[in-house]
Amino acid sequence: MALSKYVVGNWKMHGTSSDLPEIASIASAAAGSTGVDVALCLPATLIDRAATSMAGFAFGGQDVHQDEKGAHTGCTSAAMLLDAGASLAIVGHSERRSDQCETDEQVRAKAEAGLKAGLGVILCIGESLDVREAGQAVATVQSQLDASLPHGDGAAAGVPGKFAIAYEPIWAIGTGKVASPADIGEMHKALRERLVAAYGDAGNEVRILYGGSVNASNAAEIFAVDDVDGALVGGASLTAEKFVPIVEAAAAR
Ligand code: PGA
Repeated sequence: MALSKYVVGNWKMHGTSSDLPEIASIASAAAGSTGVDVALCLPATLIDRAATSMAGFAFGGQDVHQDEKGAHTGCTSAAMLLDAGASLAIVGHSERRSDQCETDEQVRAKAEAGLKAGLGVILCIGESLDVREAGQAVATVQSQLDASLPHGDGAAAGVPGKFAIAYEPIWAIGTGKVASPADIGEMHKALRERLVAAYGDAGNEVRILYGGSVNASNAAEIFAVDDVDGALVGGASLTAEKFVPIVEAAAAR
C-alpha cells in the first residue's frame, strides 16, 4: 500500500519575522489538504514564533547537533528544537555536507540523536553531477545511505512514520534541473531495497522524498513515480503561491 505523501519546505537561510504572515498562509492552506502531511523547516530563529502562533502545523529545524548539550558554539540540540516547538529536523543536507564538511558518520549520529529525542528526522542523500555522469549515482547514493542510516535506540525501525529519506541530486538543487522520472524511479527503488535490507518490513514504512527544483509544474509527474512518497522543496516553498500547488499535487495522488 502506498504511503501517504509528505511535502516539506526547506527555507534554508531565508526568513525573518516579516515572513510570518506568509508562513501562516502556507499553514492554513495545508490544513485544508487531506491525505498529505506538510511541514516547513525554518531558520531556528523563527521556529518558536511560528509554532506559537500556528499551533498544529509541523515546523522543523534544518539541522540538529548529535550531542545533547555542550561546548558547540552556534549549534542547536534536539532538546532546543523541541523546546522551540519543532517536531522534526533535516539532517545531512548536501549544503551542510559541503559547507560544514559533515561526514556520513556525523549525519548518522545527528539522525540518531534527533530520533532518540523524539524529533522526526529527514535524512538527505544525493550524488554530484560528476558521479551521475560516471554512471555511479545509484551505487554512490546507496552507500551514502548505508553509512548514514540511523541504528540503535532511535532507529527508524522503532519509530515508524518518524523517519524519512530525501534523495536530492546535488546538481538539481536550486538549479532548475530535475532528475528524469526514470532516474528518480531507479534511485528510489534502489533506496527502498537498502531500507528493507537494514530494517526489514519497517523499511517499507520509511517515506522516500525527492528533492531538487521541485515546483508546481513538475510536482505531479514526480509524485506519480513509484516509491516517491513526497518532496523536499527549497525555493518553491518560500511563498504560498508556489508551495501550495505542490501540496495540492501530492494530495491529488
Ligand atoms: P530547491 O532545494 O527546491 O530549491 O532545489 C531543495 C533542497 O535543497 O532541499
